[in-house]
Amino acid sequence: MDKDLKILAIESSCDETSAAVVVDGRIVLSNIISSQIDIHKKFGGVVPEVASRKHIEVISVVVEQALEEAQITLKDIDAIGVTYGPGLVGALLVGLQYAKALSYALNKPLIGVNHIEGHISANFIQYKDLKPPFVCLVVSGGHTYLVYMKDYGKFEVLGQTRDDAAGEAYDKIARAIGLGYPGGPKVDKIAREGNPDAIKFPRANFHDNKTLDFSFSGLKSSVLNYLNQKSMKEEDINKADVAASFQKAVVSFLVDNSLRACKLKNVNKIAVAGGVASNTCLRETFKSQGSKNKVDVLFPEPILCTDNAAMIGSAAYFEYMRGNTSSLNLNAIPNLKLGER
Ligand code: KG4
Ligand code: ZN
Repeated sequence: MDKDLKILAIESSCDETSAAVVVDGRIVLSNIISSQIDIHKKFGGVVPEVASRKHIEVISVVVEQALEEAQITLKDIDAIGVTYGPGLVGALLVGLQYAKALSYALNKPLIGVNHIEGHISANFIQYKDLKPPFVCLVVSGGHTYLVYMKDYGKFEVLGQTRDDAAGEAYDKIARAIGLGYPGGPKVDKIAREGNPDAIKFPRANFHDNKTLDFSFSGLKSSVLNYLNQKSMKEEDINKADVAASFQKAVVSFLVDNSLRACKLKNVNKIAVAGGVASNTCLRETFKSQGSKNKVDVLFPEPILCTDNAAMIGSAAYFEYMRGNTSSLNLNAIPNLKLGER
């Protein structure tokens, strides 16, 4: 087996154009991320058509920079990994077409990667000795999954959101209290000055108390009702208290279900992934609850939590090791599910 397998990875599923060079799925030689946040900020969220056009504008430069920083040329690459779903179809197609063109021109294997599996794989970069099995909590702007990773490429979904994703809830609450886009990091920051016990926002109550599913839309409505009532009574709103109380409800839900998942699967390791994994309250709560329950909680560093191509290069490596490559007919799949190919 090739001991030094270099993968050039490309990610363009949402509003970040990213390219990376990753060796053996664990060592990052470069991870260039061109963010479109400043462009979408004025619209209050990602505008798909604008995102696709921006990806087209920058993708060549981003790939060139990734190679330059890794101090290699296209000749030195062994394979090309690319996100083909889930995500915005127009955005995905830019990265995918670019990767296919490279694969064809260089005659090197193409490896299609599921974006959610990429998020999970960020943990293999952060923790060089990490191996399945473990429980994984994926919390991003589009997804909230509790997963049991039995082996490389083998995922059992234990729970998922029935409505909004955790990051989506953060973004909506941020907008409601006037913090702007992207909301997650802003809520995280302001919540540090607030009292998490100031307002009791309820957690979703399922009839089936065994489920490990999540739901955040009721919580969101309850925050919006609170804000409306305050505004009707012409009372001041303490944004920091609202943010901290909302965050407490989200974080306790995520942490409680993750620990229950560990008990269910009899494992003592949780890997957290996705943009919301960079949240400070989530990290602190997991740390303290994890040590109380004798469960190791792993977090990639923040730059590997939000969208980046290094995580895609890692997941592509493990796919390749399992003998999975893609044909040049590979198409973008906007609603690709975890574990699906
Ligand atoms: O994984 P990601 O970069 O993109 C998706 O695949 O969706 O996640 C972006 C999401 C956004 O909803 C953003 O508000 C949230 O992650 N996020 C955070 C934090 N940083 C990013 N949410 C809470 N606290 C943070 N510090
Ligand atoms: Zn993502």
